[in-house]
Amino acid sequence: MDTQPNNTETSIEDLKEITSTVSSPHELDQLLELTIETATRMMDAKASSLLLVDPKKNKLYFKVATGEKKKDVIKYEVEMGQGIAGYVASKGDPLLIPDVSKDPRWHKEISESIGFETQSIACVPMKLKGETIGVVEIIDKADGSAIQEDDIKMLMVFAELAAVAIGNARSLASAKIEVNTLKKELDLKYQLVGESQTLKKVVSDAIKVANSKTSTLILGESGTGKELLARLIHRAGNRKDKPLVILNCAALPETLLEDELFGHEKGAYTGALGKKIGKFELADQGTIFLDEICEMSTNMQAKLLRVLQEGVFYRVGGNEAIAVDVRVISATNRKVSEEVAEGRFREDLYYRLNVVQIQMPPMRERMEDIPLLAEFFIDKYRKERGLMNLKLAKETLDKMMQYDWPGNVRELQNALERAVVMGNSKEIKPEDLPIFDAKPKYPGLQVGLTLEEAINRFKREFIIMNLNHTGGNRSKAAKMMQIQRTYLSRLISKYSLKDI
Ligand SMILES: Nc1ncnc2c1ncn2[C@@H]1O[C@H](COP(=O)(O)OP(=O)(O)OP(=O)(O)O)[C@@H](O)[C@H]1O
Ligand SMILES: [Mg+2]
Repeated sequence: MDTQPNNTETSIEDLKEITSTVSSPHELDQLLELTIETATRMMDAKASSLLLVDPKKNKLYFKVATGEKKKDVIKYEVEMGQGIAGYVASKGDPLLIPDVSKDPRWHKEISESIGFETQSIACVPMKLKGETIGVVEIIDKADGSAIQEDDIKMLMVFAELAAVAIGNARSLASAKIEVNTLKKELDLKYQLVGESQTLKKVVSDAIKVANSKTSTLILGESGTGKELLARLIHRAGNRKDKPLVILNCAALPETLLEDELFGHEKGAYTGALGKKIGKFELADQGTIFLDEICEMSTNMQAKLLRVLQEGVFYRVGGNEAIAVDVRVISATNRKVSEEVAEGRFREDLYYRLNVVQIQMPPMRERMEDIPLLAEFFIDKYRKERGLMNLKLAKETLDKMMQYDWPGNVRELQNALERAVVMGNSKEIKPEDLPIFDAKPKYPGLQVGLTLEEAINRFKREFIIMNLNHTGGNRSKAAKMMQIQRTYLSRLISKYSLKDI
């Protein structure tokens, strides 16, 4: 190359700037301008432009132009196959034309109408995954010398950089669209349905805390929607674009829970082959939802308290303090004040978590929401299962209004789902609802029974309730009743409940 050392240095700097900008998320227009301007400067061209294919119109349009007439040229569109740019775009091969006046492909209208005299042109295609998405061209050298084969090579490098930038921008744009669609789907999936005053109050409290970092404790019976509320708080606040990380404290034994929450360093223990990022770190700038918080061992409670007090934690086996900015939402279906009074839950941690407390109302305090909830779930099944004519018989709804739903919304949802599976796909009849055979209010109890008989009837009823609530899942039911699964199986045989 005959460029001065000085120029070479600036050129290298220019190239470095472009390559680092191309690989970082950036405004595409700026990036393309930078690329084309650098190409023009490095190749000492009089003018240059980048045209993109519009596949819908089957035309090329000017995306960026340089040179004294850049503002005029940008308004033009070129048919595919028309002129030199159109020819290169449709053929997909580079082209060097030393004298355009002698080339039949030259489409002189644009140059003539903007008053830009052109002698030679080099034009190369921009390709993305083998497909031509546009072209880059340079017009004449500023010093009047001819455009060379070497210039074509250089121009192709720039075209490739521009194509990478466009490819990145397009993937980013489609990823954004996808994220938004998924977010909308999730919003729908985790919609908190209900119009009752009790639920409205809960939602308005949730929205009040959403924008602050205040720790919130959600209390409520099982199946009342505590997790949905936690999601709503996250979504309604200014952390919504940051992660919401959910951890069920009941699901893991202590050591695994610690590993999940704080992560570990490589080699922290046998089997720790690499570094693991914990949920606290993943939730940085977002929200962590600690579900079933009362199930956490006292040891872990102490560790959690330290993080909340100091705002830093250590990965297991690590000695670097990691600072995070995390809003904590926790939930339990236990009577947490009793847990504290009886020494199972640390009082100091309780105060940390319980800055704002929200109580999810049980179904029986918002019976007026039943029709809305029923319609919401049925509509979901209509769409999911293509049962467009599915509806709820009036008597079914009447029955639903008379039942007090000890398992709350989850029980209602399970009951309807089973009814849909077992029913005739058109109308859900009262007898399709499994729950009404369970007669939840100990109807078998009467004077004249021995205490043992009464206890047995109660136990049978109670097991039925729990199995109905878990949709027949014995492990879950055993866990809820805090008995061994094997013991539950024995009781199920004893009370002939195998069919539930
Ligand atoms: N208001 C509601 N609108 C729509 N669906 C709801 C509502 N409340 C609860 N649900 C549904 O009921 C089920 C239980 O809700 P969720 O898991 O939020 O309850 P929970 O209080 O966390 O229960 P648990 O204590 O058993 O974990 C979920 O499938 C949820 O989608
Ligand atoms: Mg839950």
